[in-house]
Amino acid sequence: MHSSVTFPEMMTLGNSIRIPVIGFGTYKIGGIAEMTRVVKSAYEAGYRHLDTASFYKNEKAIGRALKNNHIPREQMFITSKVWISDMGYDKTLKSFEKSCRDLGTSYMDLYLIHWPGEDVMGTWMALERLYAEGRIRAIGVSNFTVSDLKVIVESNHIKPLINQIELHPGYPQLELQSYCRRHLIAVAASAPLGRGEVFDSEVCRQIADAAGKSISQVVLRWQYQLGVISLPKSADPLRLAQNIDIFDFSLDREQMDAISSITGNRLFKDPEIQNRI
Ligand SMILES: NC(=O)c1ccc[n+]([C@@H]2O[C@H](COP(=O)([O-])OP(=O)(O)OC[C@H]3O[C@@H](n4cnc5c(N)ncnc54)[C@H](OP(=O)(O)O)[C@@H]3O)[C@@H](O)[C@H]2O)c1
Repeated sequence: MHSSVTFPEMMTLGNSIRIPVIGFGTYKIGGIAEMTRVVKSAYEAGYRHLDTASFYKNEKAIGRALKNNHIPREQMFITSKVWISDMGYDKTLKSFEKSCRDLGTSYMDLYLIHWPGEDVMGTWMALERLYAEGRIRAIGVSNFTVSDLKVIVESNHIKPLINQIELHPGYPQLELQSYCRRHLIAVAASAPLGRGEVFDSEVCRQIADAAGKSISQVVLRWQYQLGVISLPKSADPLRLAQNIDIFDFSLDREQMDAISSITGNRLFKDPEIQNRI
């Protein structure tokens, strides 16, 4: 293990499961050789949490990469997600088993409904069953709006422990964050660096210069101080190490507000309009 290893702080979810507040995103990282290299760099930098999905078509590569790097299963917090085309009770159970098989694991640390498509409650009941059976340590959702969340939250079912949503400067989703917080649903930021757009922000640049940090560190620190879990993706060893190294400085109120006030756009499709595909 090299000397610059940083272990991120942990957040305790509503069911007492602990999750590292920074995980590494794996979307668009593919192929066993590349994944083996990236997983090695991430592990050496201190990442103990990775985010994937059946939709990313890289679960097999991740499974092989964990094995190739001799990483004990219990040392990596693994999140995966059921895709829209696999929603519904039976299909979800089947998709879960395939994800486990591909990842080379018998259980998932966190399993999410990827998008609020059709038969959300049937899908959720499959997650509840797997949770009750001990196959999933925490269950949640992704890209759910307040009205999507209400369907589960206002039912007699287990509440989601996490909502993984698009969240970055220019799209902080403050209202959705506050609804989640009120209902003890942790928020995780997908595309925390706005898919690279944050690097063009003058506000972030100025705050980074003042703090003597990189733009990515300032943005990820902002998310951390908001109480949000971040899932930055990088395939580069130095960037991976930089993105996790955010625990030795802090942003003041003015800097936090300045980043929260950046105006911008949603990058993914809007779940209010297009999620029923
Ligand atoms: N639930 C969902 O629907 C959903 C949707 C989107 C994403 N996600 C999850 O969130 C993860 C992250 O999202 P994302 O991959 O879309 O975007 P992102 O993490 O916001 O941005 C990734 C981009 O930033 C670059 N980058 C990363 N660190 C950098 C640094 N320190 N300096 C300069 N450039 C840097 C990366 O390039 P390099 O690789 O070249 O460094 C890449 O181009 C995904 O991988 C996935 O796990 C979930």
